[in-house]
Amino acid sequence: MTDGLPRLRPAAAGDVPRLAAMVAAHARSGDVLPRSAESIRAGLDDWWVVEAGGEVIACGSLWVYGPHLAEVRSLIVDAPARGQGWGRAIVEALVDAARRRGIRRVFTLTRAAGLFERTGFHPTDKAVFPEKIWKDCQQCPLHDACDEIALTRDVLTDADAAATDAVADEAIEAHAVPLEGRPIAGLALSPSPVARAARGGSIARPHRR
Ligand SMILES: CC(C)(COP(=O)(O)OP(=O)(O)OC[C@H]1O[C@@H](n2cnc3c(N)ncnc32)[C@H](O)[C@@H]1OP(=O)(O)O)[C@@H](O)C(=O)NCCC(=O)NCCS
Repeated sequence: MTDGLPRLRPAAAGDVPRLAAMVAAHARSGDVLPRSAESIRAGLDDWWVVEAGGEVIACGSLWVYGPHLAEVRSLIVDAPARGQGWGRAIVEALVDAARRRGIRRVFTLTRAAGLFERTGFHPTDKAVFPEKIWKDCQQCPLHDACDEIALTRDVLTDADAAATDAVADEAIEAHAVPLEGRPIAGLALSPSPVARAARGGSIARPHRR
């Protein structure tokens, strides 16, 4: 970038050292879970950042458990950049990314519940989540005194989810090759509402300033 204005974008390989440093700084206070540089690099497609003046000033990631569930993790905005809508913009970008991937629901465990409630999340009981989620909590310094709140947001409507499933089924059939070696005729892929939204999908911007 050349103008120095903050810009929301997917993370790139060159961001990894900075992301690891941001996460490490906030993991000490238990605001986010620790993540190694290797782990960040391995899941880089699921990270979004805000860059300003050539430096990453905010970040967040999606931790995907499967087609039904993903977690918003590692949400951090540099102290001087807070209160300008960047935290919310990252959350919206992550929710949008989950929607494009056909993930039905996102959740978070946070002390910043207000931010998520303003972004369409609803508080829920931590007990509704699968046990594997709590394995990662073992790494948290506040594991025995957790003060985080669980919140969820449904990303896809039932109709969207059904359309996504139908397109996936069609894709499987369209690429199936019958015994005689010819593709099955007459199966044309039509884009789902989700796919259409993805094509025309806008990148979230801060709601203020
Ligand atoms: C939490 C954090 C990401 C917020 O970033 P931010 O850019 O200041 O947030 P935004 O400006 O987008 O705020 C959006 C809304 O959420 C609210 N909000 C922000 N931080 C909040 C918090 N800690 N608690 C409750 N509400 C909060 C804001 O008041 C704002 O509400 P409004 O739209 O009614 O004015 C930032 O303070 C941070 O990095 N904290 C340290 C790391 C951390 O705790 N991360 C969260 C882990 S899930």
